[in-house]
Amino acid sequence: MEKEIMLAPSSTELQELFREAHLAKHKAYCPYSKFRVGAALLATSGKIYSGCNIENASYALATCAERTAVVKAVSEGEKSFKKLAITSDVELGFTGPCGSCRQTLAEFGLDLDVYLVNAKNESKLYKLQELLPIAFTPSDLERPRSNHDIMFIDFGLNGVGVAYQLSLLLNQLVIKLDGVN
Ligand code: THU
Repeated sequence: MEKEIMLAPSSTELQELFREAHLAKHKAYCPYSKFRVGAALLATSGKIYSGCNIENASYALATCAERTAVVKAVSEGEKSFKKLAITSDVELGFTGPCGSCRQTLAEFGLDLDVYLVNAKNESKLYKLQELLPIAFTPSDLERPRSNHDIMFIDFGLNGVGVAYQLSLLLNQLVIKLDGVN
């Protein structure tokens, strides 16, 4: 999955997106980690929504820059996105989005272009699809589901138990009873 490094933004659209990500990084509220992150999300409407990471004295409540941007955009009525730029102060290499952010972004489409941008404005481009393979998305909730529950019955004999598909047995019983009528 090694990507080539783009030395400078290849269009004015990207130039603007990267600029917004850098500017957002300056607003990072990260007194605990001192790790600044900026993100900028381009909606299909053409608008850019930027975000920074926002930490909290209750550490687990930190919000990542990417999710700040998504929350800002969706709360303004946007649901379709083209590009995302993410930047940090890391000197070597690039900062990728955390797992939670990948999942939050996946809700709105895996075709998103994700640009990892370093402090020198160099970038690497990934599709969200590549960053989150076998993603769980809204379409998963539409897929047919089985009603066969596997039941585990534990006889309490040092882990000796039996598992079987109770619903299958019950289905067979119903079929037999139907036959009797
Ligand atoms: N952070 C982000 O903002 N985005 C990421 O994708 C990775 C991590 C933030 C969260 C926290 O404020 C700091 O970086 C250190 O984890």
